Amino acid sequence: MSDASTAAVRPGPGNAAQPQVRRPRTAAVIPAAGRGVRLGPGAPKALRALNGTPMLVHAVRAMAASRAVSLVVVVAPPDGAAEVKTLLTDHALPERTDVLVVSGGATRQESVRLGLDALPPGIDIVLVHDAARPLVPVDTVDGVIEAVRDGAPAVVPALPVTDTVKEVAPAGPAAPAGSAAPGTPEPVVATPDRARLRAVQTPQGFDRATLLRAHEAAVVGDGATDDAGLVERLGEPVVLVPGHEEAFKVTRPLDLVLAEAVLARRRANDGF
Ligand code: CTP
Ligand code: MG
Repeated sequence: MSDASTAAVRPGPGNAAQPQVRRPRTAAVIPAAGRGVRLGPGAPKALRALNGTPMLVHAVRAMAASRAVSLVVVVAPPDGAAEVKTLLTDHALPERTDVLVVSGGATRQESVRLGLDALPPGIDIVLVHDAARPLVPVDTVDGVIEAVRDGAPAVVPALPVTDTVKEVAPAGPAAPAGSAAPGTPEPVVATPDRARLRAVQTPQGFDRATLLRAHEAAVVGDGATDDAGLVERLGEPVVLVPGHEEAFKVTRPLDLVLAEAVLARRRANDGF
């Protein structure tokens, strides 16, 4: 694959003078290699437009909005790295932020791992942020970084769950998850106490070494749906900080409507 190499979209300033006391340096890895099957047919989800601007560009800007973030690593669809590089060159991003593009893999976990492999030395804190959460506010990003700087090895933004959640029986080996005919009644096995459940978002923030260890220990295809879950399996503590309703994940078609409404409200409120 000719596009699999790491490529700088825009080189950084290079020989900036080293400060006396080195502040922890923070990078954001943005997995953006998914197809967006639940969104329906069309371009890969991260390349779909929200009010005329690709979702991925919104997500990169959301990370670059934090003054702490000096590098963004975008993990592009395996066949779309060239297109992503062009997109990011064509859209304005803050001067202080470097951007790298790498090609992703078949699963989110694999894509994140490929992004982590591209991190240069000198990065101490890593955020992992879904391209599919393009509208996360900068205060949420900064809150996650702050908690990692204060010593937490893994930090996750989260919100209370609003729907009551039911647990159903695991799908048998002959019936992989989601394979039952749609509409088939499913027996309920439990109702967890909603007060103790949280819905988690991104960016999830990590001490770099802890996140690398978690990904090295991870088994491909073991079903972890977020990076903090891999850290939990190491036995390391994971803490939650307040998330934000605008950090919702664009998953289904109705989410596009909501995302464009949020952008319209922002524009009306502050001319952004
Ligand atoms: N992702 C990725 N590489 C993959 C699969 C997913 O980088 N092989 C990224 C997506 O691009 C997205 C994030 O992981 O930014 C969260 O995944 P999800 O919302 O499930 O996106 P998709 O996998 O694209 O959507 P779907 O599951 O509906 O196909
Ligand atoms: Mg997916």
